[in-house]
Amino acid sequence: ESEKLFASKTFLITAGPTKEKIDPVRYFTNRSSGKMGYALAEQAALMGAKVILVTGTNALPEPKGVKVIHVESAADMYDEVMAYADEADVIIKSAAVADYRPKLVHDSKMKKQAGDMAIELERTKDILFELGQKKKHQFLVGFAAETDNMEEYAKNKLIKKNADMIVANNVAADGAGFAGDTNIVTIFHKDLSSVSLPLLSKQETARRILLEISEKLGDDCHL
Ligand code: PMT
Repeated sequence: ESEKLFASKTFLITAGPTKEKIDPVRYFTNRSSGKMGYALAEQAALMGAKVILVTGTNALPEPKGVKVIHVESAADMYDEVMAYADEADVIIKSAAVADYRPKLVHDSKMKKQAGDMAIELERTKDILFELGQKKKHQFLVGFAAETDNMEEYAKNKLIKKNADMIVANNVAADGAGFAGDTNIVTIFHKDLSSVSLPLLSKQETARRILLEISEKLGDDCHL
């Protein structure tokens, strides 16, 4: 019966790292592999959802039955997410988006010079925050990658970003967070109640997150 759980729903899911260009041969990025976001996309599709996956660069095979849109920078991800946000019933922001990018992108390769050098950074747009400001009917899920004070930061994000759910992973814990095939997450709901999941594969973590979402969508979701 879980195949039909999201039969009439459209999910917009983000995955992977962003890459922020410094010059034609260099960029800033992070350790996200895309696995968590891809697992969410794959499991949501198995539960019958129409899935649009906006993803940063990674080495993963495209999940079956999912519309995959490849992006590079936080600005590209912002544009694609905003283009599809209105048609989504559920938006899950599992991507690791850069908070800063080089202020100046050099057209040609930067040359080595004597002494140290500094690269000035500027803030990128906060996609989750803007979705929270604009949202109408959408159920909005953010992630929180923290190394300490996980609960406090996750609850703050829930309120500040006007999200309906925050999935917090302690990226300092063994088996949790970036790159591996497993995760350990705590799900925080809008009423600030929480559900802690044990160490699970990212596929099973994704399935459990989706079941929590379906419960919150309630009657709408043909349960
Ligand atoms: O890809 P994997 O290797 O499988 O790793 C999974 C993961 C650790 C990347 C994933 O589980 C995760 O935690 N993703 C969110 C990482 C992150 O950027 O967290 P944050 O606390 O910096 O951001 C909070 C939320 O705001 C996130 O939903 C993020 O997508 C969003 N954000 C952040 C910055 C920005 N400019 N725009 C955003 O929308």
